[in-house]
This record gives sequence, structure tokens and C-alpha cells, in this order.
Amino acid sequence: MSMQIKTQKKITIKDIAKYKNSKKIVMITAYDALFASLFNDEVDMILVGDSLNMSFLGKSDTLSATLEQMIYHTQAVCNGASRPLIVFDMPFGSYTTKEEALKSAMRVYKETNADAIKVEGGAERAEIVEYLTKNGIAVVSHIGLMPQFVRGDGGYIVRGKTSEDKQRLLEDALALERAGAFALVLEGMKSDIAKEITATLSIPTIGIGAGEGCDGQVLVWSDMLGFFEAFKPKFVKHYLDGASLVKEAVREYAKEVQEGKFPNEQYSY
Ligand code: KIV
Repeated sequence: MSMQIKTQKKITIKDIAKYKNSKKIVMITAYDALFASLFNDEVDMILVGDSLNMSFLGKSDTLSATLEQMIYHTQAVCNGASRPLIVFDMPFGSYTTKEEALKSAMRVYKETNADAIKVEGGAERAEIVEYLTKNGIAVVSHIGLMPQFVRGDGGYIVRGKTSEDKQRLLEDALALERAGAFALVLEGMKSDIAKEITATLSIPTIGIGAGEGCDGQVLVWSDMLGFFEAFKPKFVKHYLDGASLVKEAVREYAKEVQEGKFPNEQYSY
């Protein structure tokens, strides 16, 4: 059964397009129904990111996430959130050709209520994006630092440090807009080029580690709520000290159980 009473107006890709130059777009990741329901009223878009492979499954990168796992988590998120536009992050290896991409995306649309899919890659993936959009799939593209390329690139590398790379990023962005992407994630790049791409495109850009000049922002929920303790990238702001709060609460629970203080009469039948 769905956790949300479906009375709120759903945000669509047409709304997201209209937000450009009128309202900053707020996006967050979610991987389950409970957190999706907590984010439902606060954000415009939810990304079921393949970052779940790291922050949910504890893996060292996103590459082993499967289509099945992503579908399972997206079904949960769709049960929890009825208002934000929900984006399914296509996992590594599920869109290497346009035919494979369409087959994967069709499966996502048939098995989940996701509103759109996200694919990493620049101009070299424009043909895939065009094929998807021509076949009725709403696509968010993703350029800059692309986590699915971490092994091929030899690390997570901030982009746009040279004029050649800035030019390449701009050309990638334009190619993806022409191919029909309705929004573009700009990850891990110098702020000046993110700002220039945002000013050049007519579709909205959503930044993560790309400075203040984008049309919106996305953060991984476990990063921004301070649950992920292993490291904190420069671009992450902690809005909550989640890890400390949880540990403190569980420590208190353990202490009360050990001391026979919980459950007391108040919590007994
Ligand atoms: O998987 C993810 O969470 C993402 C964001 C970092 C944009 O792709």
C-alpha cells in the first residue's frame, strides 16, 4: 500500500522546464519509501541515485548497482513520495547502446512509477539520449564528474580546469539539449563553466559540486544529513549531524535496556 495519500499535485517535466529563471530547483536522493515520504513536501525532484550502491549497500563505487536493485528501490521511493518528480538513475552497463538503453528504460517505466531516467555521458551519448526521448522516455543527462567513469578515468576528477575542457563541457551540454534531455546534472566542475552552461542552455541545470550558478541543486541525502561519516567532500554541507544523533539515541536505548529501565509500565500492556 502506498504511504502517501495522493491528493497533491504532481510535479511534471513541464513544471521543471518552467522553473528555469523563475525558481531554484531542489533535488535530493532517496532509496526507500520512509525517507521519500519525509522529503515529499520539501523538494521538487527525487533522484533514486545509483549512489545507493555506496551509501545504502556500502560498496566503494556505483558500478556494481544492477537494474533489478535500482527498480526495487525506485518502487519503494514511488510508494513514499507522490509529489516530487522521480528520476531513475540508469546503472552502469544498462545503456551502452541505444537499443539496450531503450530496453532498460522501457522496463523501468513498466515496473516503476518513475517519471524520468538519468544517464551519464556527454556528446558521445547524445545519440542514445535522442533515441530514448523519441521513444517517449523523459531524460535527465549528467556531465562533468561522472561517477560511473571512476575506474576508466582513474579517480573522481573535477572538470573544467582548462579552457579546452570548459569548451568540451559546453559542447557536451549543447549536444544533450539538442538530443532532447529536459534537464542536465552538472557534477564536480568549476563554478564558472557551470554558470556559463546554465546561461547558454534553455533547459535547467542541476548542480552538485558545481557552484551557485546552476538552476538547481542535488545532494545525496545521507551526505547532507550527516549520516555518511567516512569522508565529506568540499561541496557537501551537513544540515544535520545525523550519525551522532543516531549513535547517541541507540546508546541511550542500549543503556536503558541493560539497566532494566526500558520497557517500564508506560511502554507495557
Ligand atoms: O547517484 C547519484 O546520487 C547521483 C548524484 C550524485 C547526482 O548521480
